[in-house]
Amino acid sequence: MDYSKNVSRLPDFYNLEVLKRHQVLLAKSTLELEHIAVLSGNEGLNVENANHMIENVIGVHGLPIGIATNFIVNGREILIPMVIEESSVVAGASFAAKLARTGGGFQAKSTSPEMIGQIQVLDLEDVDASYHLLLDNKQFVIDNVTGIDPVITEIGGGVKDIEVRVVHESPVGPFIIIHLIYDTRDAMGANAVNTAAEFLSPIIEEITGGRVHLRILSNLADRRLATANVTIPLEELGFANYNAEKVRNGIIEAWAFASVDPYRAATHNKGIMNGVDAVVIATGNDWRAIEAGAHAYAARSGSYTSLSKWYVDSNGSLCGEIEMPMAVGIVGGATRVHPSAQAALELLNVQSSSELAEIIVSVGLAQNLAALRALSTEGIQRGHMGLHARQVAIAAGAEGSDVNMIASKMVSENDVRIDRALELMR
Ligand code: MEV
Repeated sequence: MDYSKNVSRLPDFYNLEVLKRHQVLLAKSTLELEHIAVLSGNEGLNVENANHMIENVIGVHGLPIGIATNFIVNGREILIPMVIEESSVVAGASFAAKLARTGGGFQAKSTSPEMIGQIQVLDLEDVDASYHLLLDNKQFVIDNVTGIDPVITEIGGGVKDIEVRVVHESPVGPFIIIHLIYDTRDAMGANAVNTAAEFLSPIIEEITGGRVHLRILSNLADRRLATANVTIPLEELGFANYNAEKVRNGIIEAWAFASVDPYRAATHNKGIMNGVDAVVIATGNDWRAIEAGAHAYAARSGSYTSLSKWYVDSNGSLCGEIEMPMAVGIVGGATRVHPSAQAALELLNVQSSSELAEIIVSVGLAQNLAALRALSTEGIQRGHMGLHARQVAIAAGAEGSDVNMIASKMVSENDVRIDRALELMR
């Protein structure tokens, strides 16, 4: 096996024993032995650290961490750490990234890492007059909050702007919404934004004469977007009995379904989030925030639709693109205290939160490609069943070599069910 040429193209990684995979990672990444010890589960998050993360801790919950291979993002070879319980996701991402390599990999970009902090102002005598007062005092408000987080201010972050909206009608009458536009640099930034919003409340009350109610970050991070594009040459798409045009057009037809139908779009986007969440979790980021942002963004036009788009270019190649909010950080929170998250970030070798965001959306697009290609050709069950059958065999109590034996039998019979596994066990 020749691992010397590229960093993320690791043929046969799939077939190696876990220990051998560790050796490959040591050779092909900047990971050191201590990172491997952490990622292998031997020295990962312990109960003591966990006890500092949440309340009423009783232990630590494990999930598999796998490596998606073949990724090139903005010209850089990257091994992708993915934490997920579902089989076929890592294989799907790796397969799609291999296809993407034939067109140069993923091209990704992102906006500056601006989050939105919301402040709700109620009990106003005249909402329109308060609106103008707030706009007139915008700079005063920004000056007041600048410097409350000296670290972020020093590296060029902090509150950059203030937007004001009037809600004339609501179940509790008119009110004002203020948006603090906060550049959080390499942090996800929820703490910084919430602190700023709370700090500003008395000042906002003084300016408006109203009552500040909610002060909280918005997860619809539509000023912190990441975009990825991919082009797959037509000739790379054919396989078995499926000719290239049929595969390409099938993928576009599948996307078209999601673009017009929310029932399909929910599943289509779930497939994207399989890839996105797996990296978000691996790096210790808040996947609920990413999920909330993704689905709110997918509904921004008023009807819920696909986060990705697939089309044909003038060469006949298949082109895909994705755009979504990506509020992830590489400093602070669990990214700092969770040893596996630290090791995952080391493997990704990212220098900024924006770079991490660009990789994550590329993985989301790869996952989408893998799902649409399978769905529009042979279906997903064939690829899915191998590993799923192993899980079913283990659930039925199989151990050691019995796991593969029972799994293979169930797959060959096209009958992967727990009762069949139990029967085979007996
Ligand atoms: C399964 O986890 C994800 C898929 O349903 C995604 C899709 O339908 O596009 C295969």
